[in-house]
Amino acid sequence: MAVVWWIVAFFVIIVAAALTQQGRAILRLIYMKVYAYILSRIAKSYNKKMTPFKEKLFEDLKTHPAAVTGSLTVLEIGVGAGANFKFYPPGTSVIAVDPNPEFDKYLLKNAAEFGEVKLREFVIASGENMAGVADHSVDAVVCTLVMCSVADQPKVLSEIKRVLKPGGKFYYMEHVHGTPGTWVYTKQNWLDIIWPYLSDGCTLRSELWTHLDAAGFSEVDYQKFDAPLKMSLIEPHLMGTATK
Ligand SMILES: C[S@@+](CC[C@H](N)C(=O)[O-])C[C@H]1O[C@@H](n2cnc3c(N)ncnc32)[C@H](O)[C@@H]1O
Repeated sequence: MAVVWWIVAFFVIIVAAALTQQGRAILRLIYMKVYAYILSRIAKSYNKKMTPFKEKLFEDLKTHPAAVTGSLTVLEIGVGAGANFKFYPPGTSVIAVDPNPEFDKYLLKNAAEFGEVKLREFVIASGENMAGVADHSVDAVVCTLVMCSVADQPKVLSEIKRVLKPGGKFYYMEHVHGTPGTWVYTKQNWLDIIWPYLSDGCTLRSELWTHLDAAGFSEVDYQKFDAPLKMSLIEPHLMGTATK
């Protein structure tokens, strides 16, 4: 019975805090801290299962002329805890973008662990507005498990095109909406009513490929596949590249 009272008290405190502006700011800060902690853990187990796919995705970064001279610049949007650092060629300089500043300690830890990759800058911003990053300034842009959370995918894609050097590539690996008519697709439609509230705005119904095709890249190349995650809702995946 005591547990019930603790749960009731917890919700009363949350609702009371949400009634004031300061309370909402504190709740948001706690949410961001907890989310960063949980995500840094999930990223490790996701990487374990997805390493072969990520190695394939980032394979051609190694042969990029700038990587050969150790001067490759990668902009990673929604960098989180820096789960992709281990896949970048030695000497890569990373500009990390994320709206959640609470990832900083996990990011720095990962940057230290993969010392041959340099964390050049951590920009606290959303992918929709990366005004702090100059036009035509980066060799590659990376997003993994991010486009499901952004509010405006076309805007992020236009920002990616703006910051990429001519011929630069956008690399992505994202969970997406499944195939119409399947049980997974139906479950995604039902659960997407609450899913964004539990996962920082993430949708289960991202159809990123439609925006990629319309974004005006010179070449778009992707494959759809089921990721071996043992969680059917986020198994439908899209990975590929888009060239400026
Ligand atoms: C599921 S996590 C993925 C983190 C990391 N990319 C990975 O693969 O482990 C989603 C990330 O996207 C970030 N994010 C959410 N909305 C964003 C936006 N509008 N622009 C850029 N990043 C965003 C979150 O703060 C979080 O770091």
